[in-house]
Amino acid sequence: MSQSQETLSNLLQETRSFPPPAELAAAANVKAEAYDEAAADRLGYWAKQAERLTWSKRWDEILDWSNPPFAKWFVGGELNAAYNCVDRHVEAGLGAKIAYHWEGEPGDTRTLTYADLQREVNKAANALLELGVRKGDRVAIYLPMIPELPISMLACARIGATHSVVFGGFSSEALRTRIDDAQAKLVITADGGYRRGKPSALKPTVDEAVAQTPTIEHVLVVRRTGEDVAENERDVWWQDLVERQSDQHTAEPMDAEHPLFILYTSGTTGKPKGILHTTGGYLTHVSYTHNAVFDLKPETDVYWCSADIGWVTGHSYIVYGPLANGATSVMYEGTPDTPNKGRWWDVIQKYKVSIFYTAPTAIRTFMKWGDDIPAQYDLSSLRVLGSVGEPINPEAYVWYRENIGAGRTPVVDTWWQTETGGIMISPLPGVTAAKPGAAMRPLPGVSAEVVDDQGEPVPNGGGGFLVLTEPWPGMLRTIWGDDERYIKTYWSRFEGKYFAGDGAKKDEDGDIWLLGRVDDVMLVSGHNISTTEVESALVSHPKVAEAAVVGATDPVTGQAIVSFVIPRGSAGEEVEGEEFLKELRDHVAKTLGPIAKPRQIMMVPELPKTRSGKIMRRLLRDVAENRSIGDVSTLADSTVMDLISEKLPSAK
Ligand code: WT7
Repeated sequence: MSQSQETLSNLLQETRSFPPPAELAAAANVKAEAYDEAAADRLGYWAKQAERLTWSKRWDEILDWSNPPFAKWFVGGELNAAYNCVDRHVEAGLGAKIAYHWEGEPGDTRTLTYADLQREVNKAANALLELGVRKGDRVAIYLPMIPELPISMLACARIGATHSVVFGGFSSEALRTRIDDAQAKLVITADGGYRRGKPSALKPTVDEAVAQTPTIEHVLVVRRTGEDVAENERDVWWQDLVERQSDQHTAEPMDAEHPLFILYTSGTTGKPKGILHTTGGYLTHVSYTHNAVFDLKPETDVYWCSADIGWVTGHSYIVYGPLANGATSVMYEGTPDTPNKGRWWDVIQKYKVSIFYTAPTAIRTFMKWGDDIPAQYDLSSLRVLGSVGEPINPEAYVWYRENIGAGRTPVVDTWWQTETGGIMISPLPGVTAAKPGAAMRPLPGVSAEVVDDQGEPVPNGGGGFLVLTEPWPGMLRTIWGDDERYIKTYWSRFEGKYFAGDGAKKDEDGDIWLLGRVDDVMLVSGHNISTTEVESALVSHPKVAEAAVVGATDPVTGQAIVSFVIPRGSAGEEVEGEEFLKELRDHVAKTLGPIAKPRQIMMVPELPKTRSGKIMRRLLRDVAENRSIGDVSTLADSTVMDLISEKLPSAK
């Protein structure tokens, strides 16, 4: 978004809004007054949230911001994250309460109460100590979605080792670079996990990675699939080592700023950034937001976040937030279409899930599969739905609310990042009349703005860059080992403000709409046009399930809009013809204005996505500009570009 702030954004007139159900509003955890309270005393408000946790030593100072952008929260305070997530609930008499209903992909299940979790975490902590892991060491975790994953994270937290979870879908090269960057001493892995109905091996990837990593002393291996694996000298079986440990261990209090975890995020260029999160502020932030944004009632709710723990969403909203709050959660190992496309709805029906948190990419996939699938299940237990990861197209939002939430449940569209640690901008389900497609307002305690090129706030109705104007407890503390890059990436674009890298607009009411990464904004005939909004206009056509839009170089307009569209399951044959493509182009022009009319629309069977579900527009730009296709190594499914090339002879 360069010179002109005159964005097209305002042309998308989404006028629907959904006020909270009266009953939910009356009993909501967080009410409208919280905004005023936090505005009057922001730090006091956060200190009050920190009281949600049990501290071994109270802090002396809420925030030390004397050396920006290096923040220290709850200075002088001491606490243990694992104690807060597990032990204190057992001590409060909730040992028999279920922490996780775990569901394996093949249909096997495990139920872990808080007392079970305490025993397992203690044993794992003792095992780590036996392996020579000490406070301050780094531990890489490369596991499928099995209970040993949260158990390993909490065991690290318990002894003060910093974990670095690497998503199980990453290659040995990706794992190796992350191990090396963090100089991890230990990797915790498994023989494999289950995906798409069969065992999917992990151990060989680890073997390949650690063959070249000088720092790894041991590989701790969980037996999950029972498939044969190569055994190396450094390997230790979880079932041998952990099982024979004592289930007693006293958690050691850590400084509030003790490094809890590193999580690598790839960004657009260069080597992955090790995002560092610490203990007291992070845990405060995720506990508070999990309670506020989902209106969690720990006594009665069953909560399910469908993310993988390999991403920050899983760290904050499968592990640390829900456990700090004593919630009962569902954790599912596999893919949504195994053994059939109703698996997720079956899980919701089976465990009577009341709060469900997923991503727009999943929602659009379900739209594509058809309304009739969720309709076969009893989803009446649901009361709050959430979305995260990308802007949610208004149509996908409404589909989610109608088809999963029976038109009753609030949908909270939560904006945040690996770097922010927890949710920053979101409706509150008992307060906000949410607009489909808008993340709405910064949460009480959070300060965000939409600014222009000069860093000046835009007026209502204007568009620009999203920035965070005050430090917050869950913020990244630095990029592991690279303070300079931390300053340069996030704090240099606008003086004194955190630059999120996202485009955004404020509507006439001052509510915030996210417009995608700034790198994705198109400049067509001098107008900034957001890929997100053209995509949303396309998805608002009843025959379209998913759309991706890119700007391709054009001799006349600078950039021209090129769209890739996946038809809905029920759309039938007519979506192939020229006539239909014209209808779609006209539909966009009608919705957004003629300037946004795509030059070209191509029907495709799939879209290229990263493993966390984000559309890789870079590859589509290669197609649109008739270039050979660039680096595909971060694609979730490497065959997708072949499918697209087959469909579009020009894309080679
Ligand atoms: C980027 C951060 C937050 C956990 C998962 C992703 C995009 C995320 C939304 C949303 C619009 C969103 C942004 C952000 N994003 N949530 N509700 N509306 N965009 O974490 O991988 O660090 O990605 O995801 O572009 O900057 P991440």
